Amino acid sequence: MAALFLEVKNITKTFEGVKALNNVDMAIGRGEIHCLVGENGSGKSTLIKIIGGVHRPDSGTITINGAEIKNINTIESIRQGVQIIYQDLSLFPNMTVAENIAMNQMLESNSRVINWRRVRQEAKKALETIGEAIDLNERVENLSIARKQIVAISRALTQNAKLIIMDEATSAITRDEVEHLFEVIAKLRNKGIAVLFVSHKLNEVFEIAQRVTIIKDGKKIGVYPASELNNDKMVFLMTGQNFRAEPYRFAGGEPVLSVRGFAKAGQFSDISFDLRKGEILGITGLIGSGRTETALSLFGLNRPDAGEIRLNGKPVIIRFPQDAIAAGIAYLPEDRLTQGLFAEQSIGNNIVITVLDRLLNRLKVLARGKLETEKNAWVKKLAIKTLTHRVPASSLSGGNQQRVVIAKWLATRPAVFILDGPTIGIDIGSKYHIHEIIRDLARNGMSIIMISDEIPEILDNCNRVLVMAGGRIVKEIPDTSGVSEAEVLDLIGRKNSVTGAAV
Ligand SMILES: Nc1ncnc2c1ncn2[C@@H]1O[C@H](COP(=O)(O)OP(=O)(O)OP(=O)(O)O)[C@@H](O)[C@H]1O
Ligand SMILES: [Mg+2]
Repeated sequence: MAALFLEVKNITKTFEGVKALNNVDMAIGRGEIHCLVGENGSGKSTLIKIIGGVHRPDSGTITINGAEIKNINTIESIRQGVQIIYQDLSLFPNMTVAENIAMNQMLESNSRVINWRRVRQEAKKALETIGEAIDLNERVENLSIARKQIVAISRALTQNAKLIIMDEATSAITRDEVEHLFEVIAKLRNKGIAVLFVSHKLNEVFEIAQRVTIIKDGKKIGVYPASELNNDKMVFLMTGQNFRAEPYRFAGGEPVLSVRGFAKAGQFSDISFDLRKGEILGITGLIGSGRTETALSLFGLNRPDAGEIRLNGKPVIIRFPQDAIAAGIAYLPEDRLTQGLFAEQSIGNNIVITVLDRLLNRLKVLARGKLETEKNAWVKKLAIKTLTHRVPASSLSGGNQQRVVIAKWLATRPAVFILDGPTIGIDIGSKYHIHEIIRDLARNGMSIIMISDEIPEILDNCNRVLVMAGGRIVKEIPDTSGVSEAEVLDLIGRKNSVTGAAV
């Protein structure tokens, strides 16, 4: 390995009695692409925040460029060349691309007047370093998430980054955008900038990592050259288990949800399908294919121009989410950390928020005992990693926050459950666990629509798949048994880059 850039040793960090990190080591070489993997709550984000000077470790040392940095804080970490790109990207939405990229640096230069020409020059230079061209005058709020990431990376470059850390950068972008991001990461490496990359999508890890540090329950398991790992080995090291999915066998049932001629100008048109009792119907397609827009319309969050919805043969009108919930439809949003969670509320309150009506007893007094039972039951069922449901949802790791939102919708006991990206940000072991829960719900008569980019997830769980492109259903796969990932990728119109990865 090239000379070391960063070395952390014996890092321990406790939060209110919970040991998030226990004696962890990690070393990153100059210009190295290093991945950090581990289950939800294993301590990845905590380790990153310690390197970034956001959290103070209980013990341990941080060495950058051969010198130990004592009492590291955020300013010192940046000064040493560490740049963290969090999932929220921390950009200013109503400022321009140029301002977002170069403003920090300008403000630090201590001059009283901002030299706008230099702001633009610096921003342009940073974008060019990674071969990107984004309109400097565009407001950041008008950019896609993938382009916002490019802005955040460029901003890091203006601050002389030597190590760029990306915590789950790919959970909210499409496969094509991931490939583009990886090209950018390769350019950074060629310029001697190291990247620490966190992802739950192991195929991505194999695609770009040179070395992988694996942690489990706050302890380091080991560091491995990516070439010495394969998928099963990595999963076993992360979880201590092996997983095999049992494909879902659908016995057939009556149509529960029927959609006819659903259309909305500029988004989707001519959407007609039936969803049967106990069926898991997959919807896949590229971004812009209209899948999420269609789902939002079914849940009363995006009023369509035309079309009809029937539930058990009876027409229903869904104008607002309340109408959908009353009709027995639940929707797990794609972007659930901002759309689905009240971060400062307790875990338990988040779970029961949509079912309070049902849990009110006849005297309309809150049935406290029932509430308590319900909260505990869901925490247990989804294996949410917490000592009690009484703590704020914000104290959970990212993947555990996702589970709270899943629990919240399951608690409404819907007849039809639409899941948009059901396992975004969920670790591999829990993914199998959540898939099992979903299949079990279907076996017990729930009808499920699963929207996903991840073809293995679709093939493992869905008996039938609709492929969407350009706002239309372009293909139906009536039976997924025996269908390969490559065949589906072909149908979507995308090259088979996933299985082509070096494994
Ligand atoms: N601010 C906090 N207060 C209390 N506990 C915390 C805090 N931040 C993290 N934790 C706890 O520390 C542990 C590690 O969390 P961390 O966020 O580092 O996990 P992670 O590996 O990033 O998980 P994920 O893959 O779900 O994002 C978890 O048990 C979490 O609940
Ligand atoms: Mg995390």
